[in-house]
Amino acid sequence: MKEIIMKNKEWIDSTWEKIDKKLSKTAVKSRNKLPYTTINGVHDDKKEVEVDWWTNGFWGGLMWLMYQETGNEEYRKTAERSEELLDEALKVYKKLHHDVGFMWHLTSGANYRITGNEPSCTRNLLAAASLFSRYNISGDYIRAWNEPMGEIDSAGFSIIDCLMNLSLLYWASEEIGDDRYKKIAMRHMDMTLREHIRQDGSVNHIVNHEVDKVGVQNILAGQGYSQTSCWSRGLAWAVYGSIISYIHAGKAEYLEAAKKTADYFIEHCKKTDYLPVIDFMAPETPVYYDSTAGVCAACGMLEIAKCVSEEEGKRYTEEAIHILKACDQHFCNYEEDEDALVLMGSERYPSLEEYKRGVHIPIIYGDFFFVEAMLKLKGNDFFIW
Ligand code: GLY
Repeated sequence: MKEIIMKNKEWIDSTWEKIDKKLSKTAVKSRNKLPYTTINGVHDDKKEVEVDWWTNGFWGGLMWLMYQETGNEEYRKTAERSEELLDEALKVYKKLHHDVGFMWHLTSGANYRITGNEPSCTRNLLAAASLFSRYNISGDYIRAWNEPMGEIDSAGFSIIDCLMNLSLLYWASEEIGDDRYKKIAMRHMDMTLREHIRQDGSVNHIVNHEVDKVGVQNILAGQGYSQTSCWSRGLAWAVYGSIISYIHAGKAEYLEAAKKTADYFIEHCKKTDYLPVIDFMAPETPVYYDSTAGVCAACGMLEIAKCVSEEEGKRYTEEAIHILKACDQHFCNYEEDEDALVLMGSERYPSLEEYKRGVHIPIIYGDFFFVEAMLKLKGNDFFIW
């Protein structure tokens, strides 16, 4: 693996320099915001409109990644401010959903692990308790959302994205010495292997479970093209989420799931020159991209590479680098008049209405996962998940 890194060292170093140069400015400029996307090149601010929004931890998490690598205090100040702003979301506790892992594990959880700050530990434990309470004992899944989807009650919904929130439960188990958190995470992961990950390595986005017994009512399309297609970001959540569970729980099936989903991702994103489209089974045209899927899946592949044989690891590392280079070349903006780093993300496969408004936007977790992946290539071994 060292050989591949050495071969790409010049690209890794020069890309990193551009990232740090840009983000050190944006960190100060957007200190008092919880950004989601940009409008005319300027970060928006979710604290004003939706403080409990699921992506509100990524900006703080990104700042901790940058601080942890560079020691630049400006990053730490913005990370701490972001955590403070997020406290407002604890005041609307009953609105919270399963994405409390994204929200707090990347902010308070990272703060606590980097600096030992006790109030951050408390915040993260509160978030873990909230996620724990969403486990449906009869149906054997963690409930995703609170609101109905159209006419359909969401009490039975598990979504593939939830795998990324399980880190919070693994961490809480360790932190307080209580295996129940880890057991629930593993129960949910085991259910995901049965109901979300398909035989060929593609995934179901939303599974609507029976709520009073183990069983599935139906599968729903969610953010993909259709209920039987494969939403690329959902697949990326499966790649990275499965290897995260393997890292924390060590069950061989989780590594197999990570490899199987990663292989599907690689096979399909190769077809569009490593620039992932929103849905791998959607019609070939029009072409809609999702940069965020690629960078998240690349992070997962770089972690898989550490858990497999040298030869297999080499393949996953090379494929991750292909994705990251394509992203760097086609989707990244290193100029300072645009607050986002990674452009061309997308929220979901668009309806006709959405298509008319425009599909592609930068999304904060695109920046987060691109930076996380580049840090892995630089050899930084802080694992935020
Ligand atoms: N977790 C929601 C999304 O990936 O858009």
